[in-house]
This record gives sequence, C-alpha cells and structure tokens, in this order.
Amino acid sequence: MTDTNPSAPVFPTTELDLDGRLETVAVGGHHLLPKLPEALVGVDVIGVIGWGPQGRAQACNLRDSLRGTGIRVTVGLRPESPSWRDAEAHGFTEATGTLGEMFEVIAQADLVLLLIADAAQVELYPKIFELLQPGATLGLSHGFLIGHLDAVGDALPAGVNVIGVCPKGMGASVRRLYEQGSGINASFAVEQDIDGWATDLALAWAVGIGAPYAFRTTLRSELRSDVFGERAILLGAVHGIVEALYRQARDEGDEEEVAFERACESLTGPLARTLSRQGIAGVLSALTTPEARAGFGRAYAATYGPAAALLEELYDEVDSGRELQSVSAAVARLARHPLAPVETTPMWEAGRRVRVARDSRPAAVPIDARTAGVFLAVMVAQIDLLRAKGHPWSEIANESVIEAVDSLIPYMHSRGVAHMIDNCSTTARIGARRWGPAFEAMVAREVLPALHGDGTQAGAGAVLHALETHPVHAVLRTLAELRPPIDIAVS
Ligand SMILES: NC(=O)c1ccc[n+]([C@@H]2O[C@H](COP(=O)([O-])OP(=O)(O)OC[C@H]3O[C@@H](n4cnc5c(N)ncnc54)[C@H](OP(=O)(O)O)[C@@H]3O)[C@@H](O)[C@H]2O)c1
Repeated sequence: MTDTNPSAPVFPTTELDLDGRLETVAVGGHHLLPKLPEALVGVDVIGVIGWGPQGRAQACNLRDSLRGTGIRVTVGLRPESPSWRDAEAHGFTEATGTLGEMFEVIAQADLVLLLIADAAQVELYPKIFELLQPGATLGLSHGFLIGHLDAVGDALPAGVNVIGVCPKGMGASVRRLYEQGSGINASFAVEQDIDGWATDLALAWAVGIGAPYAFRTTLRSELRSDVFGERAILLGAVHGIVEALYRQARDEGDEEEVAFERACESLTGPLARTLSRQGIAGVLSALTTPEARAGFGRAYAATYGPAAALLEELYDEVDSGRELQSVSAAVARLARHPLAPVETTPMWEAGRRVRVARDSRPAAVPIDARTAGVFLAVMVAQIDLLRAKGHPWSEIANESVIEAVDSLIPYMHSRGVAHMIDNCSTTARIGARRWGPAFEAMVAREVLPALHGDGTQAGAGAVLHALETHPVHAVLRTLAELRPPIDIAVS
C-alpha cells in the first residue's frame, strides 16, 4: 500500500461527550458501503481465517458488502476442517478462489482477519506472523492474542498494520442483524499503523460487517472488558441468576412453569425488551406499583454488595492473565474432556413448555420485581467496576447492557440458555461454564438468605439513590441515538 492519506479519512469519526468524557465514535450504516473501496485502497484479497460464529458471519457480510467491487473475500481453513462443507454451502469454493488452506490464504491476503479460536491463535501465531506479507494488515476481533503476547513478552509482527474490530454480539447476531439492516455495534482499535491507513482499514472492516457505529478502544481494554463481561452479566451471571431464582421460586411453592416465568421468562422477555428500548431508567419507570418498587429495591440492595465482590474477583483473574491461562489449559483438555452441557437442570424442560405455550398465553408475563432487582444489581455493579478500572463509557455500555439485550438474551428467550452460550466463542463458552456457578452460588447463598431476613439491608437507601441518579442513564440515551432501533427476530 503506497498511498497515505491520514489527514482526510474516508470514514470520519466524531467525539462524543459521555458523562463528561470525550470518546471517539464512527457512525456506520449500509449507506456507506459504496465508500468501502476508497478505504480499502491496495486491498485485493481479504482473508477470513476460521469458520466459527464470527468467521462465518463476517465472511458472509463482507462478501455481500463488497459485491461488484473486485475485492475478494477468501475463507481460510485448516485442511482437515469439519467446516469446509459449510463454507462451501455458503458459496465459498476453491474453484472461485474464495476458499483455501489457511496458511496459503494468510500468505496471499492483503487484509487477514484472524478469526480462529483464541487458543488456536496463541498456538499458531509465530507461523502466522511469519507468513504475513510486508505492508499487509492483521485484523483481530479480540484482544486475547495481545494479552498472551504481553504475558510471554512477545511482540506484534513488524512491518504490518494491526487493527481490531470486535463485534459486540455473537456471530449469529452479526449476520442476522446485517440482513435485517440494523447491525451490531463494534469496538475498533489501531495497535500498529505503518502507513497512516490503519484507522480507515479498521473502520472499513466495521462498516463492511454492518456495524451501525464503532467506538474506539484498545485491544488491551477490549480484552479485559470482553472476557470479564461474558463471564459476568452477558453469559455466566445471567445463567447463574436464573438457575438460583428458579430453584427459589420452586421452594416457595410455585409450579414449574410459573417458577420459570418469574425467574427467566420475565427477564428474557419484558425486562430485556424494556432495557433495549428505554434503558435501565425505563425499567425503574415500568415498576409502577409500590409493591413492585419495594420488591425490586430489596432485591437490588441485597445483591449489589455480594455482586460487586464477586465481580472484582473475576476482574482480577482476567486482569492478571490467569483467566486466559485457564482458557488455554481448558482448550488443551477438550479432546479428552469435551465441554459439559449447560442446560441440564429441570428448569429448562419447564422453559420448553413455556415457550411452546407463549403464543396462546392470555396475558404477557410481567417484569418480576425480584428478578429485575437481582439482574440489574449485577449489571450496575459491573458497570461501576468497569468505570473504576478506567474503561471508556461506550465499551462499558456495550459490554454490560447493549450486547446483553440486543444480541445475546434474544437467543436465550427463543431457545434456552445453551443456544445463547454455545453460539459464542470457545473462550466465552469455557468462561460461562466456569463462572456461571459462582454467580448462582452468590445469589443462592448470599442474596436470597438476606431477602428472608427482616427486610432491611444496611445502606440500601444509598445504593438505590445511586441507581436512580446513575450517569449510565444518560450514556444509554446518547448511544441509542447512534443506531436504528433493534428488535432482533430470533425464531
Ligand atoms: N463468537 C462470538 O460471539 C465472538 C464475538 C466477538 C469476538 N469474537 C472473537 O472472534 C474470534 C473467533 O471466534 P469464534 O467464536 O468465531 O470462533 P471459535 O468458535 O472460538 O473458534 C472456531 C474456529 O476456530 C478454528 N480453529 C480452532 N482450533 C484451530 C486450530 N488449531 N487451527 C486452525 N483453526 C482452528 C475452528 O476451525 P474448524 O472450523 O476447522 O473447527 C473454527 O473455524 C475470536 O478471537 C473470538 O474471541 C467472538
């Protein structure tokens, strides 16, 4: 790539004031697709390496976005890959030069999007770095590899751009929302810029996969917030919470279906929908009766403290690199010990019956005050911890609220918790299994016993006041203006 044009970017960014901090955001949208060739100057081949949830979605979206431009999207797989057939079924073939052996594709591509499992990136990066053409661009959708390089004292390859675009949602949502025209938000990062084009390349990648907006971060910040977030409210915590609340509802005498509606259906249905459309403030307004507000307040106040403690422990594990080591070790054990199923308790049988009966139900399931209180307390404790650790607001809001309600929970609502967790990355699937039970135990052993006490929690007034006046309400309103309304239809 010879042209350098850093002063006149193809995709301009804007500074957004989020709670007094200026953050860099680029607005995307399908109307920008015709500008892609302008930003992808010198890029003839985009190699999408891997065919997991992200590889499949990003390859399909980029191919559709670049149709007619002459820029080729080629999928790279290991020779023995079980994904070869599926890639062909999606129209990527060796005959058309759009499917090939991964190392050959890496050596030929101008832009290499490395979307194999994170642990495989860690294993294979020396060979991958060696094969990159001088002046090429390496794209990552996660900071995992950077975290590993930091841990072992290794460096990124010289003479290439290194960029990140990390969709804030599972691969299935990246494809589905692209087809629906709304798209999934993404973060973007520029780690190495050898010729002044790296930001435009990153934004072209974000626009090409359909992101309605992309916010600037670094891959190190992205690594921490993402690995932390998926173990917490995005996957692990939400699973643990509903398991504990279901058991509690059964202990209180609810029938199986009623217990499921209170613990899970009310969360994945009306609570998630309200959060998506009106933010956390909307949930507070939706609790209209004094009983609902009191029930919510007690659950919220009982949960916030224990959740904050567990979340801090989790963040420390991620920040120290121990969680990444545990992922690599777990991946190494997979051939002998495949991942255990996550949807095994009786509540999910009840859930299947509740879903079948959904259309014939006389009235919609309401928001359950206790479930809302527990769930939002974990969510807000996560937000507060990420703020304290210095993450940008756009990253915090996406990793704690937007990704949960606009990308992930709709899958749990439609087909259960396994459908949500097991459509995510290997790193996320391992982490949700490891940390979900810790959140379940936290709710069962600390929160619910406290709720059975005399009904007052020390400091409850202050915790609730902090929620009502929280800056996240304004942040969510501002970010909502940047994207079209999302109503992800998952059947
Ligand atoms: N999934 C998400 O929701 C999500 C969201 C944002 C970012 N990300 C990031 O996107 C990247 C890809 O994640 P993913 O979820 O799509 O993939 P994944 O499920 O974690 O990994 C699946 C892909 O990795 C390949 N792979 C595994 N071991 C390999 C090896 N030793 N050699 C070559 N290929 C190997 C698999 O190849 P075969 O097909 O041959 O088995 C498959 O194509 C990761 O960095 C992830 O953190 C994921």
